[in-house]
Amino acid sequence: MLAMDTISVSAVSFVLATLLLITWNYYVHRHHEDARRLRLILDRIIEHRKIADFSFLGKTTIDQRLKLRSKPNARLNLTFKLSNSFTTSDQHVHQAFLNRARHAISPAHRSSWGKLSVVTQEILKLSRKHFDDAPPYIPLASFVRVAVFSIELHVLFKIDPSNIDFGEARKATTAINRLWIQSKNPNSMPSLYNQRVLEDALERLLPNEFHREDRTHPLNLIMPAYETLWRVVLLTFVSIAHRNEDSQTTDELQKAVENVPQCFDQKNDAEMRALAIAKEGLRLYPPTKRIYRATSTTDGENGVVAANVEKVHRDRQVWGADALQYKPTRFHNWRRDGTSMAPKQATRPNIDVEYLRGLSYFPFGVGGHPCPASRGFGEKMIALLVVELTRHFGTRQKGSKIHFGNVEVQKQVSAPLPSGREDMENWVLEIEGGN
Ligand code: HEM
Repeated sequence: MLAMDTISVSAVSFVLATLLLITWNYYVHRHHEDARRLRLILDRIIEHRKIADFSFLGKTTIDQRLKLRSKPNARLNLTFKLSNSFTTSDQHVHQAFLNRARHAISPAHRSSWGKLSVVTQEILKLSRKHFDDAPPYIPLASFVRVAVFSIELHVLFKIDPSNIDFGEARKATTAINRLWIQSKNPNSMPSLYNQRVLEDALERLLPNEFHREDRTHPLNLIMPAYETLWRVVLLTFVSIAHRNEDSQTTDELQKAVENVPQCFDQKNDAEMRALAIAKEGLRLYPPTKRIYRATSTTDGENGVVAANVEKVHRDRQVWGADALQYKPTRFHNWRRDGTSMAPKQATRPNIDVEYLRGLSYFPFGVGGHPCPASRGFGEKMIALLVVELTRHFGTRQKGSKIHFGNVEVQKQVSAPLPSGREDMENWVLEIEGGN
């Protein structure tokens, strides 16, 4: 009897120990598999970051970096005749431009966001008068372009809204858009007609800035600011105010409308939530979808590589199954600022999803050439403009409607919006009650 008991106890212990060992092995194996998977994702992210921060070519000097950046921008240079940090290989031109850009966007004191909110409301009202030819319909992309361009004229050159000729602003933004689309086609030459329309419009809008000298031409400053902002503002506004079906996201917009701009620079919960709206817009619709670098500084060698910012920002393995949906709450309590971490930190041994997300988010670039707008100006401008557009036009819930001119886009509210320039041209906003 005793022997039987002893056998059954040892049999049970044996079975238990075996089960424990199998479970242990299973978890160790899974842990290794997870770590291997995360390491592969990390390697992929680092590949893109290394292109953006130039380290794919090892250690580089400032002169080499400027050349590697300006070479792929040659067509942009041919089209807009820019002489700024993006098109120059001259250190002095770069540094002088960078200082000018930093100075232009550094708001003098806290009350400037309050003032900018008032100016933005005025600009939206004045722009509306130029788009009132077919009420209650407004061509949304053209409207947002004119409004953002005019706000940039105020921010960068201190032009009062009452002195802005919105007809000229419309001509200038249409010409920029057409020239930009043409510049993407390697077989097309810049349209002399659009170049002249743009030049004449700028001369009328900014007579005091017009010195006909490449280095001081106002377009040098306008292009990096206006061209990055208008599309992300349009796409974020449409995503949050007109396509969103998630009640939590609707609440976030409501709170931002109550708190922006008073919450700016308060470092409180309201500011964090309002800026999350901008961060999520920049994640899903990064204005710089790809950061291009030449593969060699040698003249005549024309290889180009690209860091695919949009792809990294939308990776499901990093951002989750809802990566393609607009959800600002994913940025609540996000600890990083707009500038991206130094890649050296990417050698950290413990990799988790939070860490990968941190490395996977770089709307303002990576490494030693951070965008001056990454220190707050860019996100605040986006949040402010989205809030003011919401105050001005209302939301889907309040009765306004967007006609996308495309059956699929109209139907699939949870898919990301098409964000190519030409995709947005047919979007029409129908204003509730036509007012
Ligand atoms: C949301 C708005 C903006 C976004 C997403 C953005 C994005 C970027 C990106 C990705 C880069 C890095 C380019 C590279 O590595 O080749 C960059 C650099 C730069 N950006 Fe912005 N930008 C924004 C607004 C602005 C504004 C308002 C200005 C001011 C006029 C500006 C001026 C510059 C300058 C001067 C650089 C070059 C910095 C350097 O080389 O040291 N950006 N920006």
